[in-house]
Amino acid sequence: MTLRGWATASGLAARLLAALALVVLAGGLTAWVVAGAIGPAVFHQHMLRADLGAQDPAVVHAEEAFRSASSMALSIALAMSVLASLAVSLFLTQRIAASLGTLSAATTRVAAGHFDSRVASPRLGTEFEQLAASFNHMATQLEESEALRRRLLADVAHEVRTPVAILRAYLEGLEDGVESLTPQTVTVLQDQGARLARLAEDLAAVTRVEGGDLALVLEPTPVELLVTSARDAAEDRYSGAGIGLELDLQAGLPAVAVDRDRISQVLGNLLDNALRHTPTGGHVVISADRLQDGRLRIAVSDDGEGIDAAHLPHVFERFYRVDTARDRDHGGSGIGLAIVRAIVHAHEGSIRARSEGLGRGTTFEFTLPPLAARS
Ligand SMILES: Nc1ncnc2c1ncn2[C@@H]1O[C@H](COP(=O)(O)OP(=O)(O)OP(=O)(O)O)[C@@H](O)[C@H]1O
Ligand SMILES: [Mg+2]
Repeated sequence: MTLRGWATASGLAARLLAALALVVLAGGLTAWVVAGAIGPAVFHQHMLRADLGAQDPAVVHAEEAFRSASSMALSIALAMSVLASLAVSLFLTQRIAASLGTLSAATTRVAAGHFDSRVASPRLGTEFEQLAASFNHMATQLEESEALRRRLLADVAHEVRTPVAILRAYLEGLEDGVESLTPQTVTVLQDQGARLARLAEDLAAVTRVEGGDLALVLEPTPVELLVTSARDAAEDRYSGAGIGLELDLQAGLPAVAVDRDRISQVLGNLLDNALRHTPTGGHVVISADRLQDGRLRIAVSDDGEGIDAAHLPHVFERFYRVDTARDRDHGGSGIGLAIVRAIVHAHEGSIRARSEGLGRGTTFEFTLPPLAARS
């Protein structure tokens, strides 16, 4: 226990003890005064009613005996209750002090960056249990965000290293005269610059959406409108790549309350990925239907490369790319699906990826709550 923990704990112990002692003393004193004032008078009355004279030696003796017996009984009772309350308060305050001391030590450890610190159950009643549980929960949350922060920094460093190394190598080559400023060199330099710029933009976007800073502007929107505008925006690129893009909409779909720009971003990212991972001659279908529980489901399915089962659970993680070298060559930084998932979650929806395996296509489907669930 730290010095500070001790000071706090013993301060509490002393205060609790003093309060209990005060209660016992007040009780004892009141009993003493009341018994002293009322007891002998009542006893005296009873003696007189028994036709005994007030000066009768038997009465004087009996009254004397009564007074000393009651004062002795009261003293013993008072002493016992002082002792009992002392023992109980000492036991209690020691346990409270010990558990507060543990908590304070754990807090100091967490403040020093040791997020794995936890406190054991103090077994001191509901309030203390709740305090310990809240502390442990806070420590777990801090531990997770610290791990996330470290991973993000490592990922960013890794992402920045390659383009910077290429840029430096070319610039040094130009300086030494090994390279000349041909249109190809300019293209390489521009590409790497663009890659860094895109990384910066993606990072800003993912930080915003995952940090929950996403201010959604919800508008009632027909599902058809969302899907057709996403199709229209991607159509040219798809036909340019020789890949078919179709719609498959259930009839009579209700409206949903969504931020149109954000859901367009979701569909745009999914269509972008499908385009990138489907060979010429392939097909991509955007479908929408209503689930039994009333939620809306929108899916983007392709019959392209597919994703191996081992990679499927990870594709929504930041910077995760199945085929790192290839996907990077395709221009991706592996952030698109992390943004997609954060946007869908902000809409209180869920998202998942399905694939029968390599070469057998991929489906990304997300759900949105119906309009009624939000009003
Ligand atoms: N339709 C798909 N078919 C096969 N693999 C896919 C598909 N969509 C995503 N993936 C895999 O999931 C990885 C993560 O996708 P994500 O959109 O997050 O990143 P990216 O497309 O590589 O880069 P970014 O979207 O940031 O430009 C991709 O690198 C790719 O390996
Ligand atoms: Mg992507």
